Amino acid sequence: MNLKKFDSESELVDRIVSTIKQVIKNKPDAVLCFACGETPRPVMNRLVELRNAGVVDFSRVRLLGLDEWIGVDRSTNGSCAQMLYDDFFTPMRFREDQISIFNGLSECLNNEISRMNQIVSELGIDFVLLGIGLNGHIGLNEPNFNPKRNANIVDLSEITQKVMTKYFDKSVHISKGITLGFKQLLKAKKIILMATGERKSEIVKEVVESEPSITIPATLLKERKDVLFMVDKEAGKMV
Ligand code: PGA
Repeated sequence: MNLKKFDSESELVDRIVSTIKQVIKNKPDAVLCFACGETPRPVMNRLVELRNAGVVDFSRVRLLGLDEWIGVDRSTNGSCAQMLYDDFFTPMRFREDQISIFNGLSECLNNEISRMNQIVSELGIDFVLLGIGLNGHIGLNEPNFNPKRNANIVDLSEITQKVMTKYFDKSVHISKGITLGFKQLLKAKKIILMATGERKSEIVKEVVESEPSITIPATLLKERKDVLFMVDKEAGKMV
């Protein structure tokens, strides 16, 4: 894993966007996987600008959602689906046939797991933009997870259940999530882990200084030397 510190979030976003442009230039039908949430939003906004300027042709890319809360779907503000659609898929005018995400309201979550596993095993992942939770989670692969799993259902940690309330405009009782698994994420051709803002500075330090361990999921990304851990000045202030 390579740590790269940027003086500003904007420089960091520029670098990620150029990487994505390059991925699509090399492979116009690239499979791109995005975390939802606050961190990747500026990257998505910049990609929307590129699309509107007609600079990059996104018409053949495929999009994968990384994770979802169980018990909600796109109709609930704060679901990953809602954030991905509103921040990214709708303004990018992606077609439905380009998009594959988890349905957290499905009556058969095992089918959701099989469907997403099948897509990932058929198409692979060319690029994944990951965020990092305050507890080091990757997607919803929470501390003490099993890194050998593909998509799976997880019990959310206490800290995640606390943090997640920021996404929702009403109170929700969600204790489980569904996520792509570490095994399939680690096989992605290009992996960027992104962290911005002071509140991520402690976990950034822990990840940088710790040996790989399932207690801090992001540390296991160290298995790959080419993973880019991109942080802005605030998130990187302790390293
Ligand atoms: P955030 O979430 O981007 O909204 O900080 C990160 C995460 O918990 O994975």
